[in-house]
Amino acid sequence: MTQESSTPDNRPANVGLGRELILGVGGGIAAYKACDLLRRLKESGYLVTVIPTQNSLNFVGAATWEALSGRPVETNLWNNVHKVPHIQLAKIASMIVIAPTTADLLARLAGGRADDLLTNVVLASKAPLLLVPAMHPEMWLNAATVANVQTLRSRGVTVLEPDVGALTGSDIGQGRFPESQRIVAAVAENFARKADLHGHRILITAGGTREAIDPVRYIGNRSSGKQGFALALAAVRRGALVDLVAANSELADIEGVRMHRVESTADMFAKVSELADKADAIIMSAAVADARPVNRSQTKISKEQFHSLELETNPDILKHLSESRNANQILVGFAAETAGDLREKGSQKLKAKGVDLLYVNDVSQGQIFGEDDSTGWIVDSTEQDFFFQAGSKLALADLLLDRIVSKLGYPND
Ligand code: CTP
Repeated sequence: MTQESSTPDNRPANVGLGRELILGVGGGIAAYKACDLLRRLKESGYLVTVIPTQNSLNFVGAATWEALSGRPVETNLWNNVHKVPHIQLAKIASMIVIAPTTADLLARLAGGRADDLLTNVVLASKAPLLLVPAMHPEMWLNAATVANVQTLRSRGVTVLEPDVGALTGSDIGQGRFPESQRIVAAVAENFARKADLHGHRILITAGGTREAIDPVRYIGNRSSGKQGFALALAAVRRGALVDLVAANSELADIEGVRMHRVESTADMFAKVSELADKADAIIMSAAVADARPVNRSQTKISKEQFHSLELETNPDILKHLSESRNANQILVGFAAETAGDLREKGSQKLKAKGVDLLYVNDVSQGQIFGEDDSTGWIVDSTEQDFFFQAGSKLALADLLLDRIVSKLGYPND
């Protein structure tokens, strides 16, 4: 079974959906073309914060960026100093795109300078950096620029090749700002080969636990395991070492993921306890049976005797994990609700369970369970909540992993 064919959702993930981008804008005439780029990034589902350099405001003003992004625009490192804006912005970004990148910005970035808000954010962020240079051909081919591009690429920065064609004035050559579509495709491609979980251990639970009543019957739930398997697939693609504890799911093993098949809550609890210590993040996406029969009959109970069941409560695995967790370990819970204010319920559960992140969805009328798509609230203990609307479970998985990466990266918070 290949990795692709075991995908719980074979459609391409909508990589943009809900992901946080920073769009830096350098001071070149192509800044006006970045307006179209911003529009297209937003159409693709990205949430974009624009950071124009002071010089770029000569070409496109802050009001335009605010109107197009729907967010406030900050250009000055010295505003709101008490909020340490560059650290906050650096933290939320899943990728930083600078378009256009001028020759001067290439030089400052290659030199590790931090003399304005944008370069401070770049230095303070662990997010991948995608640069879209645009300048006159002489500047692009200048030995200093060539060396700067080489330095940046050697550090893992993606520097797009400018297009060849007519430039401002009478110049013709390489230096044109690429079509927006090419840049949007490069952003998606960069996301697709992100290895930002390399070396991290992620423990994920999936499916629904079953509690045997007798050798034939059990107490169970409708969970298919699709969300947990999507999380495992997304995590392994991003370089994580993944343990997947799967309860009663019919989905096939995922290549590269250490699979642990379990049946009951007690089985799951035992396996999770064994693996928890080494995990940097634990995601409890399984639907855990809250109770089990006090007595499990070794023989089939005849219908004459099958009138009532005495139940006892199962251990709350997630609560137990949060009470005994390692410092810096990230915990993620899921909640399936059928009534009331989803986000509010999610927030309450996040606090009650003592977790960092919780995804809450409405499963009334048979929604979500067994389906490829999901809708719900991501509730976060430190970052903004987000309403995830009608996206694939794989896209949701990447979004949750983005948040885990950002929390893993800043252990001192
Ligand atoms: N969970 C768990 N152990 C349990 C029950 C739930 O680890 N015995 C985890 C689930 O995997 C999920 C989260 O806790 O990540 C929330 O599950 P949910 O069933 O919504 O929470 P409960 O505490 O059981 O609350 P409720 O009374 O609403 O069912």
